[in-house]
Formats: sequence, structure tokens, C-alpha cells
Amino acid sequence: LRLAVLISGRGSNLQAILDQFGPAIADSPIEIVLVLSNRSDAAGLARAEKAGVRTEVIDHRQFPDRASFDTAMDTRIRAAGAELVALAGFMRLLTDDFIHAWRNRMINIHPALLPALKGLHTHERALNRGLKLHGCTVHFVRPEMDTGPIIAQAAVPVLPDDTPDSLADRVLAAEHQLYPHALRLIAAGKVQVEGEVAKVEQAATS
Ligand code: GRF
Repeated sequence: LRLAVLISGRGSNLQAILDQFGPAIADSPIEIVLVLSNRSDAAGLARAEKAGVRTEVIDHRQFPDRASFDTAMDTRIRAAGAELVALAGFMRLLTDDFIHAWRNRMINIHPALLPALKGLHTHERALNRGLKLHGCTVHFVRPEMDTGPIIAQAAVPVLPDDTPDSLADRVLAAEHQLYPHALRLIAAGKVQVEGEVAKVEQAATS
């Protein structure tokens, strides 16, 4: 499965994906054909280069509107031959047209147990709400932010002394397991979308 990963920053989820599916991995079910960033200062770009994966930067500020930026990304992603797009800390809202073009072929990781805590600052909000369980979700992307068929989730406990940072660290460690796991399921053809529900043939942990 040919994969493009879209990033804007740190790229620790990208790193987890590179570690499992990068060029150094023999018999990987996934080929990472492109890492695309909207920011030239994204730390994830160096991670991709170090792993030997092709990178490109498309600076959203050089486009007059979202539609033209998304069209430029779409062109690059297709030129790279990608069949699946993974958003990994990509911090731009996407147009409905772009999302439609990649329907059921674009996934995202969100740092909460959706449908709870959509949007930003999920760890702080989990603490403020007194949640005892928190976690992360990999889902297909739909126009409404942080919605779409859920492929996989991982839960972590919220501990009494947690700060937003300590909770974020615990969730992030789970993200680094979950995203490659979800990608492996998709690459194996084990995920089918029926309406707004993703049916996963086998939920064995990777
Ligand atoms: C992660 O917490 C992810 O869930 C969210 O953005 C963050 C990206 O972190 N969508 P990184 O760039 O992968 O380190």
C-alpha cells in the first residue's frame, strides 16, 4: 500500500510509522511514498529524510485560499502515487472537495476517545471533566472535524496526579502503537467502511 503522510510539526507519529514501515523495513506492507508538510520548519521533515523517505513542503501561505492549497497538495500526493493519506499532526483544515476526493482513503489520529473531546486541548479538557479514561482514535476523515468511521482506539487511565503534559505523554505513547496498528489493518485489507461505520475484520493487536 502506497502511503503519503501529512505533517505540520514534531512528527513523532510519523516516526512511529517510519520505524515500522520505512525503507529499512524488509517486507513492509506499506511503502511511504511521500511526507508532505505545510511548514518548512516541521521537525518531522528531518525524521523522514533520515529514514530515506521523500519529503516536500507546500507552504499554505503561498496560496490565496484553502482550495488552491488543497489542489496543490492533491496534485503532489497523486504524483507520488499514494493510495492512502495519513494525517499525523497536520494542522490545516481541509476543504470538503479534498476530503471527498480521498473519502475512505484518508485517516487521522486524534488524541482522545472520539466522539468525546473533538478539537484541541483534549488532555486539559479530559482533566477538567474528571475523566478516568482517555486515549486516542484513528478514524477515516469526514468534512466535520474529528468525525468519521473509527478504525481503532486505545485507552489510557487518567491518574490522580496527572497534568495535561503527563497525560499527553501517556496518550502519545499509545498513539505510537495505535497508528501503525491501524495502518497494518488497512494494508492487510481488514478494514471495510459500511456507511459511517468501519468494520475491522480482526482486531488483533500488533
Ligand atoms: C498528536 O497528539 C496527534 O494525535 C495530534 O497531533 C499530535 C501530533 O504529534 N493530531 P506528532 O507531530 O505526531 O508528534
